[in-house]
Amino acid sequence: MRRKLIIGNWKMNGSPQSVTALAEDLSSGVNNLMLGSVDAVVCPPSVYTAAVVELLAGTSIQVGAQNVCAEALESGAFTGEVSAQMFAQLGCKFGLVGHSERREYYGESDAVVATKCAHLLAQNITPVLCVGESLAQRDAGDALDVVSGQVAAIIEVIGIAQFLSVVVAYEPVWAIGTGRTASPQQAQEVHAAIRQCVAGYDSVTAERMQILYGGSVKGANAAELFAMEDIDGALVGGAALDAEEFCVICKSAE
Ligand code: PGA
Repeated sequence: MRRKLIIGNWKMNGSPQSVTALAEDLSSGVNNLMLGSVDAVVCPPSVYTAAVVELLAGTSIQVGAQNVCAEALESGAFTGEVSAQMFAQLGCKFGLVGHSERREYYGESDAVVATKCAHLLAQNITPVLCVGESLAQRDAGDALDVVSGQVAAIIEVIGIAQFLSVVVAYEPVWAIGTGRTASPQQAQEVHAAIRQCVAGYDSVTAERMQILYGGSVKGANAAELFAMEDIDGALVGGAALDAEEFCVICKSAE
């Protein structure tokens, strides 16, 4: 039985005041839920990572990174970047890689995403590999091939043994921040294809790996998504900025 995982991606939002308030509300809200089979994670902007780790210390909520430096694992002359080692030293347990916004606005290729995965793994941080098709790709009937290709590209570089420690997040690009969620059936179809792709390398890894759904997840649609066989949780953007909404999503996963 796979555990459920709910990850809040705060993206580039928040002020010192609002981030503190959100972390405090989450800390009491999630604690009150007394989650048994669900793990909760939040990924703040890196400038707030240390503060959020401190604010959530002693709670069951873990903290993750939204992005990580590809060029070096520890330190070096890479202005503006934050390394996997730095996140690990702060206590981060998860790191997003390959989010469609990174692929689109920063030109991240599968090769860069694979390097970032490897850096996180080297620091015992679980990479959350984001994959997903564009609307044009879906309309052309290519969704399953595109997504399987994105997963396979990473396995080919880091190896299937390492992939056992990776979480996959399926996020159809057309559903991110648009209010348009994939139907539970549409999401399930892609999740099953991802598991089948991984099973082509190793069936045990395929069975154990967590595959999250992301794209306009909110309290109102979470339960029907989590009812699907291959959906093991959610990567939540907009709704993760509201503590109450995030708690409803976590509760729906129990
Ligand atoms: P959304 O974002 O929930 O606001 O659609 C999800 C994501 O991009 O991770």
